[in-house]
Amino acid sequence: MELRSKEWFGKSDKMGFVHRSWLRNQGYPDDYFRGKPVIGICNTWSDLTPCNGHLRDLAEVVKRGVLEAGGFPVEFPVTSLGETIMKPTTMLFRNLAAMDTEEIIRANPIDGVVLLTGCDKTTPSTLMGACSVDLPTVVVPGGPMLNGRFRGECLGSGSFNWMVKEKMLVEKYSDEDILEAEIGVARSAGHCMTMGTASTMACMVEALGLTLPGAAAVPAVDARKKVMAQLTGRRIVEMVKEDLKLSKILTRQAFENAIVVNAAVGGSTNFIIHLLAIAGRIGIDLKLEDFDTIGSHIPLLVNLKPSGKYLMEDFYYAGGLPVVLQELKDVLHTNAITVNGKTIGENNLKHVCYNQDVIATMSEPLQQSAGIAILKGNLCEQGAVIKPAAATKELLKHRGRAVVFETMEDYHLRIDEPDLDIDENCVIVLKNVGPVGYPGMPEVGNVDLPEKLLRKGVRDMIRISDGRMSGTASGTVVLHVSPESAVGGTLALVKDGDIIELDIDQRKLNLLVSEEELAIRRSGWTAPEPMATRGYAKFYIDHVQQASLGADLDILQGGSGSIITRDLH
Ligand code: FES
Repeated sequence: MELRSKEWFGKSDKMGFVHRSWLRNQGYPDDYFRGKPVIGICNTWSDLTPCNGHLRDLAEVVKRGVLEAGGFPVEFPVTSLGETIMKPTTMLFRNLAAMDTEEIIRANPIDGVVLLTGCDKTTPSTLMGACSVDLPTVVVPGGPMLNGRFRGECLGSGSFNWMVKEKMLVEKYSDEDILEAEIGVARSAGHCMTMGTASTMACMVEALGLTLPGAAAVPAVDARKKVMAQLTGRRIVEMVKEDLKLSKILTRQAFENAIVVNAAVGGSTNFIIHLLAIAGRIGIDLKLEDFDTIGSHIPLLVNLKPSGKYLMEDFYYAGGLPVVLQELKDVLHTNAITVNGKTIGENNLKHVCYNQDVIATMSEPLQQSAGIAILKGNLCEQGAVIKPAAATKELLKHRGRAVVFETMEDYHLRIDEPDLDIDENCVIVLKNVGPVGYPGMPEVGNVDLPEKLLRKGVRDMIRISDGRMSGTASGTVVLHVSPESAVGGTLALVKDGDIIELDIDQRKLNLLVSEEELAIRRSGWTAPEPMATRGYAKFYIDHVQQASLGADLDILQGGSGSIITRDLH
């Protein structure tokens, strides 16, 4: 097949000279420009994205593989999003990073792409961008950190954050204790080692068929991560020759497989918003309801924090995702093709589970139905999301009095006021943390409980918002309420004292206020002032879609392909 890069390097005219000559200042021999597939190594390395701090080294290993297979590797940086560092929230920038990835791939002489990813948003953002160009593409997930260790205990990164307030209040942790715990939970290169969003995304790309088999769980510092990277470098060169593009792998069946796998591994709710956005880029008609229909009855097979006991390192030693895929063979589309040219069924035939306490079987799962539930009702006409596996059983059907916070700032100001009228049966309602309202839909849905209730021993309450929740968190938390409050969804109309009814079995979320009263409130509602009036944030507010559609920018849906019709002149 004709290489795309030939358009740049294959000409004997002035522009062919220009395209080759300047690159040759790097010392490439002239045969590099005569028919070698050019492999772009799209690197999300950054000192400011600690989870991806090892990806520069990993890129060198991918290059080794590309060279061995006769390709020409070129590494390039794209916007990297460090979950724990960026303000106000990385989600605001996911679409910006996707736009960057898309345009850089399309604008350059690239025939195939290797995405080096890790921290939460770096996987969906780069994949969304790559989908809009649709070249042969493989993902190398950066891998999780080693298990956190602190005072003889195994700690999960991310999950420990949500316990800091409780540890300081109840167990009287000192500042020194917290400092010691900090490095204990982050003791090697890699991303969060719970089944948080980064691990969920790694499992997602393996389930979609976009990694070499078994890639998702290999710890970042395990030598086998480098082996995987080198083999990926070899394979992408072959994929270019086979023209095995993303759109040939990312079929409707592949998306359904990802939904099934996410349920079985107990993956993050962020999976929904990212998979919807990826589907929108590659042209697959995926709906919010599909996550419930396809995934909610799937049993939980993986015993990982935040809802379980173990961490990604344990998951890898137990056999990793291939064991899960093999166990799920009767409910997967096993004929879905993957990047190595084989089907997902062929890739996952003979794997042994080395620890059934970490990976359970379909006949004896950890929980019967583990997937995400999609709620509907007058409080969320376009849907809301809850992860029943992470919720408290007694709260799965509940009526409670609303305690409303208009913004995050309002929440921080009042949540610990001693005279706040709240008890454990109340429902905490948090507004204006959606895509438009915050803007960028931060991971605040699992807000801390009031101090006075924590001291009483209360560990969970229903919390409802238009925001997201970290994949490392748990609780009875209703998220992604659509339409969000900032655009006039019913959430905007909730007042203190209103009764809210949640019934997860029936998939219902309702505000028990009469239609007449809601109409009066609606007529008196005015949209909050936008939080940004210029720059990217303004552009984002003007174009972002609701969470129920994946929160991509409307103008970025679909793709523009890989053909460039105009040159420098
Ligand atoms: Fe990067 Fe958790 S902070 S993966």
